[in-house]
Amino acid sequence: MDLYSVVKPVLWRLDPERAHHLALWALRRNLAAAAVGPDDPRLSVDALGRRFANPVGLAAGFDKDAKVWRQAACLGFGFVEVGSVTPRSQAGNPQPRLFRLEKDRAVINRMGFNNAGVEAMALRLATDRPGRLQPGAGGIVLGINLGKNKETEDAAADYEIGARRLGPFADYMVINVSSPNTPGLRALQGKAPLAALIERTHLALAESCGANPPPLLLKIAPDLAEQDLADIAAVALDGKLAGLIATNTTIARPAGLDPRYASQAGGLSGRPLFEPSTQVLRALYRLTAGCLPIIGVGGIASGADAYAKIRAGATLVQLYSALVFEGPGLVGRIKRELLQCLERDGLGSIGEAVGLDHQ
Ligand SMILES: Cc1cc2nc3c(=O)[nH]c(=O)nc-3n(C[C@H](O)[C@H](O)[C@H](O)COP(=O)(O)O)c2cc1C
Repeated sequence: MDLYSVVKPVLWRLDPERAHHLALWALRRNLAAAAVGPDDPRLSVDALGRRFANPVGLAAGFDKDAKVWRQAACLGFGFVEVGSVTPRSQAGNPQPRLFRLEKDRAVINRMGFNNAGVEAMALRLATDRPGRLQPGAGGIVLGINLGKNKETEDAAADYEIGARRLGPFADYMVINVSSPNTPGLRALQGKAPLAALIERTHLALAESCGANPPPLLLKIAPDLAEQDLADIAAVALDGKLAGLIATNTTIARPAGLDPRYASQAGGLSGRPLFEPSTQVLRALYRLTAGCLPIIGVGGIASGADAYAKIRAGATLVQLYSALVFEGPGLVGRIKRELLQCLERDGLGSIGEAVGLDHQ
């Protein structure tokens, strides 16, 4: 029996947001530390100019203010993405805004980018991590995910601010235009606004980081039609993006969801998101001819899930919701199961499995 199965009944009696804060508190005090050894070399991935010890990352939204990314990495993640962070701190939507759907192994959230703002994150990272990883070097890979403030009209200006101030700390940077809880945000995924947004963020990164800016990725929604995906792929192949993240939470509500929660507004994540997000990933891999690394995220709760994403075209994967149900032991389990998948298929590394379903 692992520690989480003891703690879980206590956490689950709490309101989900309170439980989340308690988890962050425990992480910060190293109370959730696990004995995690070095990763099997077959799990290591070279991508985005970085070496990832393993392909399993913590998705954005768990550590919005970069308070526990180091401790989170110690749970066995190969990389951690912090944020979404917006230029000015904001409170987000009124509570309750986070719901656990236990039977569905799913979460609905409408947090609305609650965060302490770019400056607070920059000050924290300046003491925590004065520089980023040298290309190719080992260490914790840190991604920083940028959002926009709710009231900002010129959205690109917000991403420029984030890129300028936080670029020097990031091993990769993410433009998040896919959260369903900021009005108008997802409209930025259209071809023309997207190209302009990427151009301006890319320029801001180049200005703040000189000759060696962090790679820029775009995180997209699962609720996009084939034509939208084709447009995004075309913009992505223009040369300014180093990769894509597929996907954020969905506004769809598949049949059969727990009726007590199904009508709650917000983004749905966890198991019901696995299939739709994997379909988007598969389509993007095809549309970009496998030329850009894609981080596959949505509904991963086992090594088999992670492996399915990799075979569908993901170079790396991330998760969040399954941690709520399975606890931190899940990360080690996924890595062990990934190795079993490689062995079963006679493969020597994760890289050999990327996009195998397309052959
Ligand atoms: C409570 C919560 C907050 C989230 N906040 C963010 C966020 O700020 N930025 C973002 O890009 N994604 C955010 N996400 C989306 C996750 O990063 C991820 O894309 C999504 O949950 C699908 O993965 P999962 O099924 O493993 O949870 C959030 C998800 C949850 C559950």
